[in-house]
Amino acid sequence: MSKKTVKDIDLKGKKVLVRCDFNVPLDENRNITDNTRIVAALPTIKYLLEQNCSVILCSHLGRPKGEFKPEFSLAPVAKELSRLLGQEVIMAKDVIGEDAKTKAANLKQGEILLLENVRFHREETDNDPEFSKALASMAEVYVNDAFGAAHRAHASTVGVAAYLPAVSGFLIEKELKFLGEALDNPVRPFMAILGGAKVSDKIGVIDSLLEKVDTLMIGGGMAYTFFKAQGYSVGNSMCEEDKLDLARELMQKAKDRGVKLMLPVDTRVGKEFKPDTESKTVAWTEIPDGWEGFDIGEKTIEMFSEELKNAKTVVWNGPLGLFEFDQFAKGTNAIAKVLSELDATTIIGGGDSAAAVRKAGLQDKMTHISTGGGASLEFLEGKKLPGIECLQDK
Ligand code: 3PG
Repeated sequence: MSKKTVKDIDLKGKKVLVRCDFNVPLDENRNITDNTRIVAALPTIKYLLEQNCSVILCSHLGRPKGEFKPEFSLAPVAKELSRLLGQEVIMAKDVIGEDAKTKAANLKQGEILLLENVRFHREETDNDPEFSKALASMAEVYVNDAFGAAHRAHASTVGVAAYLPAVSGFLIEKELKFLGEALDNPVRPFMAILGGAKVSDKIGVIDSLLEKVDTLMIGGGMAYTFFKAQGYSVGNSMCEEDKLDLARELMQKAKDRGVKLMLPVDTRVGKEFKPDTESKTVAWTEIPDGWEGFDIGEKTIEMFSEELKNAKTVVWNGPLGLFEFDQFAKGTNAIAKVLSELDATTIIGGGDSAAAVRKAGLQDKMTHISTGGGASLEFLEGKKLPGIECLQDK
C-alpha cells in the first residue's frame, strides 16, 4: 500500500491517538450483539502496546447528532475491549473536555484510554479544525484504523491528520490489500454478486465493476427494476421507475464490454411484507399482480451456483433477498454456502452481506469479510476514501 502504516514510523513510548470504527450493534440493554469491529481493531492496539505506547482510542457510535445521549455512549465498548485484551480500558467521560484531557495527560505507557463518542460534538461531522486540533493536542501521533468510517471526511477521520504525523493501522492495511487486489489484479474468472434493495444505491458499483469483472450476477430488490426495464410486470415488487433507462444502459454496457450479466430467472414472491406471509416461486416474467418479489428462486440459485464454480475471485455485496425473514433467506444463504466451498478468493463487502454470512456461520470460510459497509461500497465504486487519502505517503 502507498500509505505509511504503524510499522513505517518509530512509535516507541509515544502517545498515540487511534481512530477506530467501534460503531457496533447494541441490543435494548446495550449489550454488544456483534463484536467483529472491536476484534478487528485488536492487532493495531496490541502492536502499539508492544511498542510501549500510551494508547488513546476514539470512535463514533451511531448518529447522536452532536449531542450527549447516554444510549450512544462507548462505555459498552470499553468493557468489551477490556475483556478481549485482559487489561483495563480507562473510559473518559467526554471527548475533548476536562476529563478526557486529564486522563490523556496522565496516561502511562502501556495503558489504554477510550474517549467518549466523537459524534457527541457536531464539530466532528463538520470536520471543524478547532475540534481536530483539540483531539490532536492529546497525542504525538495519529493512527487511523477505522476502515468502516474512512469514507467520512470528519474531524477524527481526516481533520486531525493535519496536526499530527498520520499513518494507518493494520485493519486499514488489510482491507486495502484484499479489496484493492481483487479490483486491481484479480485472478480470473473474476465474478461479482450484487444484491440490495435499490439500483440507485448501487449504480456506481455496477458501473465500476462492469469495467473489471467477467461475470456480474444481480439479485435482491434491484433485480425487479431490471425486469421492468425489459418490459415485464413486477407486481408489487420494489421497482425504481425512474431508473428503467439506467438499467437498460447498464445492460447495454455489459454487452458492449463482453461481461456476462446474469439476472434471476425465477423469484420467490410473497403476498405481504411479513415473515410468515404466503409465498411461491414464479418465473421472472410471470410475477402475478398483488405479489411482491422477496428472494431469488431455486433455478436462479442453481444457475448462479454453477457459474460461481468457475470463479477464481468473487466479490459479493448486498443480500440476494429479504434475508431477515427466514423463508426469504434461502437465496442469500445458498450463495453464501457456495462461496464458502469455492477454491477461490472470496471477498465479502461489509454491511448486510457480511451480516448474512455471519448469520449462516460461514465467516471463517471466506477469504476476507470487510468491516466497512458504506466504505467498502465506495471503495468498490473506485472512489478515493478521505480517511485514507489524508495519511502520509510511504
Ligand atoms: C458504518 O457503520 O458503516 C460506519 O461506522 C459509518 O457509519 P455512518 O454511516 O453513521 O457514518
